[in-house]
Amino acid sequence: MENFIAHNPTSLHFGKGVIETIGKTVQPLGKKVLLVYGKGSVKRSGLYDRIISQLNQAGAIVFEYDGIQPNPLVEDVDKAAAIGRENGVDYILAVGGGSVIDSAKIISIAIPVDHSAWKFYEYKAKPVKAIPLVAVLTLAATGTEMNPFAVLQNPETGRKDGYGSPLCFPVHSFLDPEVTYTVPADYTAYGIADLIAHCFENYFGKGDSSLSDRFITAIIADAMEWGPKLMQNLHGYNERAAIMYDATMALNMMTGYGKSGGDWGVHGMGHILSLLHGVPHGASLSILFPAWMKLLKERAANQISKLGSELFGNADVESTIARFEEFFTLIGSPVRLSQVGIGEDKFEEIIRVMIRNKAEGSHYKLSEADYHLIMEYAK
Ligand code: NZQ
Ligand code: ZN
Repeated sequence: MENFIAHNPTSLHFGKGVIETIGKTVQPLGKKVLLVYGKGSVKRSGLYDRIISQLNQAGAIVFEYDGIQPNPLVEDVDKAAAIGRENGVDYILAVGGGSVIDSAKIISIAIPVDHSAWKFYEYKAKPVKAIPLVAVLTLAATGTEMNPFAVLQNPETGRKDGYGSPLCFPVHSFLDPEVTYTVPADYTAYGIADLIAHCFENYFGKGDSSLSDRFITAIIADAMEWGPKLMQNLHGYNERAAIMYDATMALNMMTGYGKSGGDWGVHGMGHILSLLHGVPHGASLSILFPAWMKLLKERAANQISKLGSELFGNADVESTIARFEEFFTLIGSPVRLSQVGIGEDKFEEIIRVMIRNKAEGSHYKLSEADYHLIMEYAK
């Protein structure tokens, strides 16, 4: 088992009606709030009005930044941080999925400084402090609501990168499964694929930690049970709640303890598909993970086989990989590049950027030949 530090300061408020408790929770944080959200789903669903009513109850002065896009941009983070800085906001309230909450994490450490947030990503600057961040999660997928990570895209440098700092944990996160009823079927499926992929990334990390592995297989088993039920019933409370809890637990650090925090090679490659071709995050993972496992079916034979026997009662490597592929297909997340419109003529550029951005993973390090084989399996 590898050494680890366990630290998680986020208070998670989970369940029906938690939105109506936001006002009293944020009141002690100060008066001025920067409200950050995406491209309109919060207004269409009526959540925006409920949030404003809570902020009014708390007597808040509200500044807003909207329009955060999926696969979010550092440019928006810099613009929002400038608004927060000019107005001296006391805290940030982020309402959205991973893209909005990730952006808000970096806004929270960019407000106290006077340089572009990208300097953090290049390790040319260290965050000194953070404006407190409160998150309202609207999409179950990333686990960002209870972890210190944030993924941003910078078209100027041609990168989509993750960044983590203990300063970036939200202080409070509000998760009402009913808020996710409006997530369309495709993004619901991508969220399920993403949470399972987080389990895989941690599972394939370096180090033996039987307890972390048991957490991991329990989360995958739960998601494989509830995922198809949810796809049949997008307004089912128990279905939404189960998947929402699975997603938080899949990436709140707990599953990486003793395993060096995971491998993350497939996420690195997935980010390149999002960066170059706008592939939704979870979709990139349901395509690449089975292909990555096919590549590693000998190098990681024992681990894949153990997953198969724990989850399916069958230790055969090939059939384990096939079962995951069938599952992603069943819920409606793609398993081939052709399903997201990426033909073989694009492979060369994708592989070039994978090499440049070192999307190789930290345990099963990938070579250039490996990228070619993965693209072949995924085509
Ligand atoms: O922009 P709006 O209008 O809000 O619409 C969003 C967006 O179009 C919509 N949506 C969100 N909640 C909704 C809703 N539509 C209807 N009803 C609701 N309740 O869904 C679309 C996708 O939203 P987005 O936030 O991009 O999705 P997700 O939560 O999957 O986040 C993906 C981002 O998180 C990063 C990914 O790389 C990607 O950039 N990740 C962050 C991680 C972390 N911080 O730990 C780890 C992950 O592995 C991942 O890399
Ligand atoms: Zn992910």
